Amino acid sequence: MMKAYYESFGCQMNAFDTEVIESMMTASGFETVQSAEMADVIIVNTCSVRENAEQRAIGRLNDLSRNKAVLVVCGCMAQRMGDSLFDKVSGLSLIVGPDNYLELVSAVISIIEGGEKNVITGQDGKAAYRLGSTGSEKGGRVSRFLSITRGCENFCSYCIVPYLRGAVRSRDIAQILREVKILTAAGTEEITLLGQNVMAYNRDGVDFAGLIRHILENSDIRRLRFLTTHPRDVNTQIFQIMKEDPRLCPHIHLPFQAGSNRILSMMGRGYTREHYLDIISEAREIMPDLAISTDIIVGFPSETDSDFEETLDIIRKCRFDSAFTFKYSPREGTEAYKMDDDVSSELKKERLKRLNSLVQKIRKDILESRIGLIDEILLDARVKKGENLFWKGRTPHFRNVLVSSDDLNQGEILRVSLSGIRNFTYLGEVV
Ligand code: 5AD
Ligand code: SF4
Repeated sequence: MMKAYYESFGCQMNAFDTEVIESMMTASGFETVQSAEMADVIIVNTCSVRENAEQRAIGRLNDLSRNKAVLVVCGCMAQRMGDSLFDKVSGLSLIVGPDNYLELVSAVISIIEGGEKNVITGQDGKAAYRLGSTGSEKGGRVSRFLSITRGCENFCSYCIVPYLRGAVRSRDIAQILREVKILTAAGTEEITLLGQNVMAYNRDGVDFAGLIRHILENSDIRRLRFLTTHPRDVNTQIFQIMKEDPRLCPHIHLPFQAGSNRILSMMGRGYTREHYLDIISEAREIMPDLAISTDIIVGFPSETDSDFEETLDIIRKCRFDSAFTFKYSPREGTEAYKMDDDVSSELKKERLKRLNSLVQKIRKDILESRIGLIDEILLDARVKKGENLFWKGRTPHFRNVLVSSDDLNQGEILRVSLSGIRNFTYLGEVV
């Protein structure tokens, strides 16, 4: 039996795509192995969102190319760089873009059989449409991703993704429900619906809220989440559904990117700081206990100290549970690439540091404010911390909890008392 090894860089969409590729490979007789040295085929799914993501992937590919295996690169960097990757990575055999995964397995097999190296990066947008997880061969994982849309049409001026992943395509609702049922039957308790902008879901007259209702009404899933959203498309019905049905977890990831209206406009985000703050206050009016996370970029072209202060101000006002924070990285082909990248890397670094310390302080305050309360966790993994073994679970708000009891099972949902915090993780006791 041929053996295959997988690595995934970048976002959850890539993690999901890697699972889909793995399931197609498995269906064609490839056995998954956990180390590159044992593999006949190595598949690396890559990200292009920032330059350092690409540099790391190329470094890793060159390390992996020391193995004897057929080396395959897929994902956003494969799409962006195409056959120029053959010059950057020695021993590379196959380059496959995100719209072409249905052709990946046969392309791998033809290389194993002695065929030429190959590049498949067409973007007709149709093939990937049929992509979906069956996931059954991975039964038992309690928390799984499921893609509901592919592609992005927001064209934020800094972002390369719309050029690489194409137009938005919403997947068929019956197919999505079928996959939800396959996953729940295989032991999945929690599903995170994925898309570059899930609230843009629209197919056969069903919007995102309609899709969520349909899944909740017609499946046994215990917890439902979604990632990621854009303020432009937020529909506050979603918070109403959260309030009515606790299976839809009280957490939203809503990137705001920058706090100043001048920078937001240069980013082409399509909203103002006031509009963003209005969404948050409306959401919290409906769901006072909502956890909100976000993405933020510092050092966008022309960002001044006072623009940056407005970013900090949004953080103070919204009190995010967590934030992914990034230094602006110019991406060739985007609108912002034509602007002068005039914030020095020193200043970007300094702003990032100030930003992170504020984000972490608020995060700690939020966690501390709930010590002593009872919460409900879904146990998803056994973890070792120092000498001790713990069960790790997540609260509906997506906060981590460690419990030290032994006689528990993966996939259990149980009530715990939050007794303390270590490294932004709760310590909990089963009640
Ligand atoms: N530079 C820095 N960060 C970026 N992101 C997207 N493009 C860039 C870029 N060129 C960030 C945004 C997005 C997250 C996935 O990555 O914050 O929400
Ligand atoms: Fe990276 Fe964006 Fe591609 Fe995800 S979609 S892998 S974040 S470039």
